[in-house]
Amino acid sequence: MSMIPEPPLTAFGSNEPRRWVRVPAVVDGHLAASQGMILYASQMVSPGDAIILGAGSCQEIPLPALTDRFASVTLNDWKESLLERVSISSEQTSKVHRLVADLTGVTVPFLERVAESLGVTDDPDRAIERIAELADAVTPQVFSTGRSYDLVVASCVLCQLHLEACNQTLSLFGSKFPEHLQRFRASTRWVQAMYDLARRMERAFVETLHGLVAPNGRIYLSETIQGCFVHPDPEGHWMTDGMYRMTHTLELSDYLDARFHIEEFGKWVWVMPPFQEQGPVGRIYKVQGLILSIK
Ligand SMILES: C[S@@+](CC[C@H](N)C(=O)[O-])C[C@H]1O[C@@H](n2cnc3c(N)ncnc32)[C@H](O)[C@@H]1O
Repeated sequence: MSMIPEPPLTAFGSNEPRRWVRVPAVVDGHLAASQGMILYASQMVSPGDAIILGAGSCQEIPLPALTDRFASVTLNDWKESLLERVSISSEQTSKVHRLVADLTGVTVPFLERVAESLGVTDDPDRAIERIAELADAVTPQVFSTGRSYDLVVASCVLCQLHLEACNQTLSLFGSKFPEHLQRFRASTRWVQAMYDLARRMERAFVETLHGLVAPNGRIYLSETIQGCFVHPDPEGHWMTDGMYRMTHTLELSDYLDARFHIEEFGKWVWVMPPFQEQGPVGRIYKVQGLILSIK
């Protein structure tokens, strides 16, 4: 188990004092490394079925190469609008299947219970406690399609699984108690409950990966292990208040147990400069990628 020097990155930011430092020069390697590892994994398996979990708009997925190689490619995300943005050539359309589904199986029922609980109290402190209790009570599901796949791709989705539950809860709470939103956001009870739920979702997701992959198949698993926000100063230098931890520990392999075998390991940096479409604050992530077989 690795040492953890950073506070976790949560949707609530960090309450700890941070020190501003200049960002050293960094080179982005995200698309090339992600696509390269996925292609490499695709060559290690039979060209039957592939599934891309949390596919989004497939920015880091070499989709044309995968549709060339595999008989079928299933694209999953819970946001249909993202899957609709994926461009697929007319020759490949029949091979690609879009599967809109929540990989945790619990987001909608949790949010319904949150909305219900907010409807029956005018006391913000009671609401915070109740929402934390609801989060504590959630048991994430293992996702299955009833089939197995030669290649299972999970590119930067593991630590994102709780975000909808988290962000929508903040939004529901903010609509009911706008003047108490910052206090809710920073409350230790809520932050801990959501942190623990995120980790339970990740554990269920590792079971999902194991359940979806065929006996001789491969899993490509990558994640942003650490991230920082990048703010340009008036001279144009990039400044940051330091790295945040996004995963349980600083080693992606710490999620795996003895059923998984690491075939390949990669590390790279993903740079989203400030002043691009993401807005005036940029982001830099340290990413790790693994190609896994199962025993
Ligand atoms: C960082 S993005 C991954 C981007 C994607 N791999 C690509 O190549 O563009 C994470 C994706 O996971 C999806 N996602 C997050 N939580 C999910 C969940 N519980 N079920 C299904 N999809 C989820 C998000 O909608 C988003 O598209």
